[in-house]
Amino acid sequence: MVAFDAGETLAERFRSHMGDATTLYGYAMRGMADDWEAGGVTREICAEWESSPTGTMIQLRYLAGIFRIVLRGEAPELAAFYPCLHGSAPGPAPAERVWPVMREVAAAHVEELRQALHVVPQTNEPGRAAVLLIGLFEAVRRHGIRRIRLWEIGASAGLNLYADRFRYVGPGWEWGPDGSPLVLSTDAPMVRVEDVEIVQRRGCDLDPIDPTTGEGADRLRSFVWPWHVSRHDRLSAALAVARAERAAGRAAVVDRAGAGEWLERHVAAVSVAGAGADVLTVVWQSITRMYWPPDEGKRVDAAIAAARARFPLAHVTMEHPDEVVDGRVVHAREAQLAVDGDPLGWVHPHGIPVWL
Ligand SMILES: C[S@@+](CC[C@H](N)C(=O)[O-])C[C@H]1O[C@@H](n2cnc3c(N)ncnc32)[C@H](O)[C@@H]1O
Repeated sequence: MVAFDAGETLAERFRSHMGDATTLYGYAMRGMADDWEAGGVTREICAEWESSPTGTMIQLRYLAGIFRIVLRGEAPELAAFYPCLHGSAPGPAPAERVWPVMREVAAAHVEELRQALHVVPQTNEPGRAAVLLIGLFEAVRRHGIRRIRLWEIGASAGLNLYADRFRYVGPGWEWGPDGSPLVLSTDAPMVRVEDVEIVQRRGCDLDPIDPTTGEGADRLRSFVWPWHVSRHDRLSAALAVARAERAAGRAAVVDRAGAGEWLERHVAAVSVAGAGADVLTVVWQSITRMYWPPDEGKRVDAAIAAARARFPLAHVTMEHPDEVVDGRVVHAREAQLAVDGDPLGWVHPHGIPVWL
């Protein structure tokens, strides 16, 4: 995998992430690097992390901590630089002027930002629901079963467990409830839609986030680039769906557990007599495998094989496959949708617009 924070010192690591990029965080990371070298507030905040391993992504944790202060409305002068918070106002403040304003905010929140460096970057991309849904339709066709027990491993906040509560619009097809707060416009042509009824929605994550609390929502938002306005819009709409489902007593459950152990436990707990053959268990996952320890995938595969021997199950994956570059195994840049291991196509890592 590409290391986004290579270098000897934190300053070098901050500079290496975005190079000369003219994005908000490009300017911010270079400002943080200069500030670290000058012994400024960045040095004070990041003091414990100077020997942290490459890949810790201190710069993302720092910027997410600042973003959460902005999201709470405590730094209006800095909020002016965040395109996702701009609404219909004319353009955001120019990114190249951000660092002095950001530094003032950092200086006023040193202790909070020291704590923020412990928060591991974590997102939940509702755009991926469009890809997973196409896999679900394929699974339904293969098994001829429409009642779905939906299980998601590496679910983060579980937003994609509400996939049937979102509306999808593509060339020549539409699916999902009218009036959903989240409408996903895809370029996926000629999708053969299926009727499905989700009878259970449950998942696991090593660190589940409750999307219905302000804190959980801000944590998710804070790790999405502030200039990716449509991703922020999708996330806000999916959060509204999650809040509505919770209010209606239908919140999806995301347990704190590793994927393999959770799946073993849940497969063992399925009573085939009770569930009957008219329920299809769909285990789905998106962009989580690359974070798993080496044995996790083997445990997941073994649990799935054990389940298939007892009840109908389909496995829908949207992951970066491994590929060999210069003799090294790396994750492919783009993601692939597969059902039961059969690739259906390459997809955008954020899900939308779907096919590449
Ligand atoms: C990039 S996020 C993707 C979240 C969600 N699937 C999505 O597509 O929006 C990766 C998620 O995998 C979770 N994760 C990493 N290792 C895991 C493991 N061994 N078991 C379960 N979840 C894991 C992380 O906590 C994180 O929420």
